[in-house]
Amino acid sequence: MKDIPQLNILIVDDDTRSTDRLTMALKKMNLSVNAVRSGTKALAMFKDKPVDILITDIHMPEMNGLDLSRQVLDSYPDTQIIMMSVHMNVKTVVDAMKIGASDFLQKPVDAKILYDSIVSSITKWQMRNELRIAYDNLESEKELLAVTMRSIGDGVIATDLDGRITMINRVAEELTGWQARSAIGHDLTDVFYIINEKTRQLCDNPVQKVLETGHIIGLANHTALIAKDGSEKSIADSAAPIRTSTHKIIGIVLVFRDVTLEKVVNEELSKTKKLESVGMLAGGIAHDFNNILTSILGNINLAKIILDPSNEIYEYLESAEESSRRASKLTKKLLTFSKGGEPIRIPRNIYELVRESSDFILSGSNINCRIDRSPDLWTAEVDKDQISQVFHNLILNACQSMPEGGTIHIVCENYLKKNMKQDSVPLKEGDYVRVVVSDEGVGIHPEHMEKIFDPYFSTKQKGGGLGLAVSHSIIKKHFGLIACESIPARGSTFTLYLPATRVSETPKRVPQDIKGQGKIMIMDDEQVVREIARRMLEKSGYSVVQAEDGQAALNIYKKAMKNKNPIDLVIMDLTIPGGMGGIETIKKLLKIDSKARAIVSSGYANDPVMASYHQYGFVGILDKPYLKAKLLQVVSEALEQKTD
Ligand SMILES: Nc1ncnc2c1ncn2[C@@H]1O[C@H](COP(=O)(O)OP(=O)(O)OP(=O)(O)O)[C@@H](O)[C@H]1O
Ligand SMILES: [Mg+2]
Repeated sequence: MKDIPQLNILIVDDDTRSTDRLTMALKKMNLSVNAVRSGTKALAMFKDKPVDILITDIHMPEMNGLDLSRQVLDSYPDTQIIMMSVHMNVKTVVDAMKIGASDFLQKPVDAKILYDSIVSSITKWQMRNELRIAYDNLESEKELLAVTMRSIGDGVIATDLDGRITMINRVAEELTGWQARSAIGHDLTDVFYIINEKTRQLCDNPVQKVLETGHIIGLANHTALIAKDGSEKSIADSAAPIRTSTHKIIGIVLVFRDVTLEKVVNEELSKTKKLESVGMLAGGIAHDFNNILTSILGNINLAKIILDPSNEIYEYLESAEESSRRASKLTKKLLTFSKGGEPIRIPRNIYELVRESSDFILSGSNINCRIDRSPDLWTAEVDKDQISQVFHNLILNACQSMPEGGTIHIVCENYLKKNMKQDSVPLKEGDYVRVVVSDEGVGIHPEHMEKIFDPYFSTKQKGGGLGLAVSHSIIKKHFGLIACESIPARGSTFTLYLPATRVSETPKRVPQDIKGQGKIMIMDDEQVVREIARRMLEKSGYSVVQAEDGQAALNIYKKAMKNKNPIDLVIMDLTIPGGMGGIETIKKLLKIDSKARAIVSSGYANDPVMASYHQYGFVGILDKPYLKAKLLQVVSEALEQKTD
């Protein structure tokens, strides 16, 4: 008796004598018993405190025991019901059982029999309760597992020992393109189709590998998952056996994640680092070389101006000038590499630049070129010379990849990067102009793919291997991106992204044969540079004064102002060894005369000052070495600004 929990028992019977007798007997047996005389009162008792065991007579005047039981079980399904009746027939018993009564007793009920029936009901009640708790626990564990699986950021697939899928989570559904309802029951290799990215060979089935070793296995590097729609993603993953508490393997579980973006970003980073270190070296050499070239090219240029073109020497000078110009181009290429090289950016119509480059390279060749563009193509702020150099390199490479001729297809379009999830292009969110250059050439061997942007990597007999390295460096400095895809013997596609500005293009200046007037001061520590500029300017009608450093320039400027013969424009060298250079001089000059106009000139084309010359107070820039036409154009533009 002491094993019986203290349950709440209610007897319902309109026969008071029978009720009293049973109540007393049960109380003596240490059970907690209440009694009422009608169904309505019984229901009211339930409201106060639920009853565990209901013992009810069937035949009662107001509400019979069957109806009462029905109502009780509707609201309190865990209640155990014992029914009693004087009139026992098969129908009544069947009805009582149908409702869910656990026992049926003939009246008058013997107290001992009732007690046994109660004990049996209690046992049933206990079993049912335990079952319900176990079921609830199972349900909440199932729910927890489902929520955990859904929330895991990695793809998870479980299989049985035959490799058939038993579970697949949401991320795995997204990555494989298979919905759980169609994937479950399928062979893993149908859904999780993995190949080696480099060799394109099918990878081993992870289920077999796990079953063979019995251990956790990681997948080899360069594994790509081919989704149901054929799209490809780089993945990293592992597979592990699922074991029971007795260590028996009953299946395997695969965990994998998309590393496409991570991989692209890392590759991009190492490419940039490699180029930066080479760039520093190249930049150092190129600076010095550029200064020497300024003098060579300037002198040749002047000599040509003096000489009659019919003179025999003229031809030699022309070829010397041409070689110097090529040397200058090479130093420019190297300079664009070097650290800190800032492009001078102006909003440009990229389509125009592409077209100019392709016209230039492809004229007279056996290559067709189709250029498409979005009608509303955005502009991009670019350094025209540098970006043209990129297009030049790409188109030239495409051309060289098709020695038998073919078609180059170029598309210029707008590209809106919304978020990192959109695609695997590692760019910040924003507007871009995208240029895609595709050829039908020899393509690039997969093993060469990693090296094509390295300086001096070339597969061509006469290739310098600088084209793509320089292009990469230029695009980086424009906060853009360049990427390549290629299929050997089918062709290559280079895609580049440049941040778009959505502002209108700066109108083009028509270069003029300028005959100018005005007084110009040249400030440069190198006498030869001053001389060349003086001669070029004087020939075009300007009057020229010279200063060898900033201090001398300021003195001359002040004196000229005082004598009412002011200087209209100063051309300042950016760096004067041992003297006052351009930045300090312009500061002081603007204090003397807030309307003073100055152009900054430098062989250090990649100096940041050259890119943001306006901020320092200059009205123009002049790259060294320069030819007469360029000098005159920059000077006349600067003087025009004065009258604005
Ligand atoms: N469109 C292309 N088709 C096939 N291979 C290409 C293409 N573009 C580049 N390559 C490969 O990349 C290598 C490097 O190109 P890059 O332009 O840097 O140098 P290069 O063309 O060899 O020499 P340079 O441009 O300095 O004259 C090439 O030698 C070639 O193997
Ligand atoms: Mg090239």
